[in-house]
Order: sequence, then structure tokens, then C-alpha cells
Amino acid sequence: MSWISENSLSHIQKFCINVLKCGSIPNHVAFIMDGNRRYAKKQHVAKAEGHSKGFDKLSDCLNWCLELGIKEVTVYAFSIENFKRTKDEVDQLMDLAREKFSRLFEEKDKLMENGICIRVIGNLTLLPDDLKKLIARAMIMTKDNKNAILNVAFSYTSRDEIANSMMTIVEGAKQGKIEVDDINESLISHCLYTNLSPNPDLLIRTSGEVRLSDFLLWQCANSQIFFAEVLWPEFNIWHLLQGVFYYQRGLRSMQMKEDPNVQEENFRIRKFVSDLNERRWRQLEIYAS
Ligand code: FPP
Ligand code: MG
Repeated sequence: MSWISENSLSHIQKFCINVLKCGSIPNHVAFIMDGNRRYAKKQHVAKAEGHSKGFDKLSDCLNWCLELGIKEVTVYAFSIENFKRTKDEVDQLMDLAREKFSRLFEEKDKLMENGICIRVIGNLTLLPDDLKKLIARAMIMTKDNKNAILNVAFSYTSRDEIANSMMTIVEGAKQGKIEVDDINESLISHCLYTNLSPNPDLLIRTSGEVRLSDFLLWQCANSQIFFAEVLWPEFNIWHLLQGVFYYQRGLRSMQMKEDPNVQEENFRIRKFVSDLNERRWRQLEIYAS
């Protein structure tokens, strides 16, 4: 299945989307796509089939998000914790990623036409070289697309990300590129893997589990969180619309608190962050070559 499905929506689904669009649509929605293995068990199929169905659901979900006008989506596709699963399952998940990232190149025209930028966030050093290469090439190919952004968290945990941000800052301070007084919430945010994205407005987790599982802990400080009782492969457009409605209702009580992360940045910090982004991009180009 392709990255963005073309399944058409029914009249009633389109009508409900238009009704929701009269209200505020979240700019950035994050998903914890949980429940693939329980789904596989329920259907008496192999775990790999559950993950594959999970990808198909992601593809449908991206189509619904585009219809809703959601500009940015971040999905938790592989946690660093998932490396502790059996070798067979980890291999199957890596193979699924290989297959899907390879497919991205076949779908280049469609992605470019739809203006979709794909970014992978996470600790890429933990991934096999061939997968790093595919991921880097996909990111480079779509980097100038501006219509919608898909962030795939792969080999990601929030604590790893925050630790990485801290190490970047400590290194910068040791080398005299920044001063200890420059360290604040804003600088930590700027050094996260997600530094190119606004914080999610809404986080949706499936499978009935009510936890964040080390996903975007820093970024979701003020996000609304919607827990859906269904397993990820069973997630449907009505669950998504329910999540968006939940967000719209919550907006009134929250009155969108100002992001407390607005802190003054001097030239030194701006240069440090811009150099960091360049360094990360150069690393991707090395992976891609
Ligand atoms: C959680 O369900 C899901 C995962 C660990 C993998 C999610 C991956 C996909 C949906 C495919 C995405 C692939 C790409 C390349 C973007 P689980 O395995 O924890 O299931 P359980 O909660 O029932 O045990
Ligand atoms: Mg799970």
C-alpha cells in the first residue's frame, strides 16, 4: 500500500469533515499507533501482518488528515525500546521500513504533487546502514515540499532525544560556542530532533493504553491528549474526527496557553542552532551517499 491512500470518502464523512472545519483544526497532530500485535492475535495472523496492517492504517490516516487540513503529522513508528523485542520481530519491522521507504521513491511524483515533506526523527545511528541511506534519501528528496509534513519517529524515545539535546549543548559550551547563561528551555527545544516543528496541538493514542510511552514528552507539555479504545489497525475516520472534536472542545477551556518557550535568543544562540541544523543535514547527506 502506498504512503497516502486514495480511498475516497463518503458524502457523510465529507460533510462531517466540513462541519469540523468550521472550528479550529489542529495544526500538528501526533499519533501513538499502538495495538498492532493485539490486532494480529485477534485476527489469528502473524505479528508481521499486524504491523503491515498498521502501515495501511497510517496511509489511510494521512489521507484523512490531508482532507481535514492538518498541516503536520508525527507518528511513533519504532521506539528505541522496540529493539528489545525478539530478533524476528525487530527484523520484520526493519524489513517493513525498508519496503515502505523504498516505495517512497516510486511514489515520488505523487508526494511532490501533494507537496509532502517526510522527516524521520530519532537516533538514526542505531539503524542498519542501508535503512539510514533510504531514510536520508527520502528526506533529501522531499525537503522542499511545504504543503504538509510527516515526521516519522523511528528509533526514537523522548528521553534519548532530550539527552541528545543536552549533550549537544554541553559540547557547544565546552567548545565555547555558547555560554552557560545561554542555556534555557528554548535552547533545549532548539536542539531536539523536532526543532523544525511546532509542538503538537493534539496527541492521539490508540489501543486503550493510557500512557505516553516516552513519546514527545517535552513537546506535549501543553498538548491535548485523546485516548482511543481501538487497536491501531481498527482506527477509522470517526475516531480521528472524535479526536479533533475533543481538541476543539478542549480549546475553549485552555484558550491556547501561550507557548512558555518564547525566550530571547542572541546571535550566538542563533548561530549555534543554525550550525547544528547544518551539521545534521550534512550527516544525512553522508548517509545518503
Ligand atoms: C505498536 O503496536 C506499533 C509498533 C511498534 C510499530 C508501528 C509501526 C507501524 C504502524 C508501521 C509504520 C511503518 C513505517 C515504515 C512508517 P505493538 O506492536 O506495540 O502492538 P501491541 O500493543 O498490541 O503489542
Ligand atoms: Mg504496544
